[in-house]
Amino acid sequence: MLGVLPRTDESQYDLSCSTAFSLCNGTSKTVDTPDLDPSLRKWKESAAAWIADQGQDGDWSRRAILDPALEQLLPDVAGKSILDLGCGEGRYSRVLQKRGARVVGIDPVLRFVQRARELDPESTYLVASAGEIDLPDQSFDLVLSYLTLVDIPELEPASREVVRLLRPGGRLIVVNISNFASPTEGWVKDLLGRKRYRTVDRYMEHFALDLSWRGINIRNYHRPLSYVLNLFLEQQMVLTQFVEPLPPEDDPEYQDEFRAPNFQIYAFEKLADGGRSE
Ligand SMILES: C[S@@+](CC[C@H](N)C(=O)[O-])C[C@H]1O[C@@H](n2cnc3c(N)ncnc32)[C@H](O)[C@@H]1O
Repeated sequence: MLGVLPRTDESQYDLSCSTAFSLCNGTSKTVDTPDLDPSLRKWKESAAAWIADQGQDGDWSRRAILDPALEQLLPDVAGKSILDLGCGEGRYSRVLQKRGARVVGIDPVLRFVQRARELDPESTYLVASAGEIDLPDQSFDLVLSYLTLVDIPELEPASREVVRLLRPGGRLIVVNISNFASPTEGWVKDLLGRKRYRTVDRYMEHFALDLSWRGINIRNYHRPLSYVLNLFLEQQMVLTQFVEPLPPEDDPEYQDEFRAPNFQIYAFEKLADGGRSE
């Protein structure tokens, strides 16, 4: 049984931080989320290392693979209301804000929210977990989940919130770790150390994985792809795009991506009531 995130209450949202989003006109105080859940505790403990690791432009995967592919899928965002779900320190929220979007970023880690606000006073950043976001129905034209679905322990409530918060015709874009990349113990090598193939095991199970690199220690959650897609397909959403993004072909360091890609990007559109696509 995976951990259940504690519910957050209204007093945890600072709605006074920005005038950029018309809903955010309250005055409540910001406090950090309770960290009863081990994955949330790990994210809080890793926040400083994560901020340092991302720098200004994100890590290599974001710069070389994910940002360029996402660019192809994003509509013109000027004037659009966008929720950045699990915004971290807000790097991609800032990209969207600079293009004229009205951005709300949510993240359960107060340190990330504080950092995002420092770097982008124009947007609204709130301390909240994906499973309970205290904003009105149909608030957003677009929800972006940029490498966050694997970090969320309970996806059912999070998916319900995403669908509730989108207006009919609105879009969800998910950038995710490939479900085929998470249930692996890595590459099997020959006697000379050359990579032969990468293993995949326990694919149809749901389980937690603890990962560590450069001072970052976090927990991800593996689920089969069908489970993740069906969460949305069963709730008034249609799949409109699916991409397995790759790095530039001439990048010798990352040829493994062409053999066993680590990422997927997909988009859904919310049907209007009655099942019509707008
Ligand atoms: C891999 S980071 C991605 C951050 C940012 N989207 C980016 O691409 O740089 C995952 C983020 O998910 C957040 N997160 C963890 N649990 C969450 C939850 N239950 N709801 C929303 N976000 C969560 C973490 O705090 C972290 O900021």
